[in-house]
Amino acid sequence: MSKNIKKILVTGAVGQIGSELTASLRKRYGPQNVVAAGHHTEPSEALRDGGPFERLDVKDKEQIERVVDRHNIDTIFHMAAILSAVGEERPQLAWQVNMGGLYNVLEVARERNLVRVFSPSSIAVFGPDTPADPAPQAPPLRPTTMYGVTKVAGELLGDYYVRRFGLDVRGVRYPGIISSETLPGGGTTDYAVEIFYEALRRGHYTCFVREDTVLPMMYMPDCIQATIDVMQADRDRLIHHCDFNLAGMSFSAGELAQEIKKHIPNFTCEYIPDKRQDIADSWPRRIDDTAARNEWGWKPLYDLPSMTEDMISHLSKKISRV
Ligand code: SER
Repeated sequence: MSKNIKKILVTGAVGQIGSELTASLRKRYGPQNVVAAGHHTEPSEALRDGGPFERLDVKDKEQIERVVDRHNIDTIFHMAAILSAVGEERPQLAWQVNMGGLYNVLEVARERNLVRVFSPSSIAVFGPDTPADPAPQAPPLRPTTMYGVTKVAGELLGDYYVRRFGLDVRGVRYPGIISSETLPGGGTTDYAVEIFYEALRRGHYTCFVREDTVLPMMYMPDCIQATIDVMQADRDRLIHHCDFNLAGMSFSAGELAQEIKKHIPNFTCEYIPDKRQDIADSWPRRIDDTAARNEWGWKPLYDLPSMTEDMISHLSKKISRV
């Protein structure tokens, strides 16, 4: 049996996933019961005024302790992290934020006997020697980015806290996440979001990976659903904890451009790969998520056509407002 979640802290709540996750959790658990925490980035009005908001540097354990104690938090969704492309520019910072932050969160949770912690992982745990189509649940994990290194270590650390201290830590390996609310910050899969903004604003996009680059992706509503579902799963049914493979859809950059062209016929896309191509080439094309399907009933709703249609409908309204 899993204990009930009542009072939630979301770190990284200003980020791409954190902002929409916070809104969704506030609907589900009540606005006063979901504390959003951000660091440098200014929160949107909706995030700041839609419930409690705190400034928090996850590298500082005392700051986490203060927020957890002040709000009587029992569950943490720990979304604060440095992504892959920024992580290659600033590997030391990526280690400090991703590992230091997670260690602090886990320690605060252990010391206070919290109900549950969500610790996201990523397709970046895989490396060039992982079978790419599909990536199995448990291949050898030898990533070549600092981001990937911290995600593998984070999965192992989370699983250690489950085994050693009985702390209920859970996590999924997110694919590239596509959304219209908040821009992603410094990842390799960002092109799959930028392309929509540029298609609508300029009718042209210069893509930083090759046309034939295929990566696993997911639309935000599925991402939020997976996050909430894995956190609500019956603990007794879980064999895995912090490392669930998670699949949504897979497509090449060229296929995405073609799909957008169906809605914006004049749209053109050129491909000028930069350093992020190497990162993309080290990740798998497709994901085998049988464990997530079997252990907590995972099933995505969106494919490439339905995601593209929804993105264009949301973004065209948003862009016409500014
Ligand atoms: N979207 C992430 C990145 O590109 C992968 O988890 O860094």
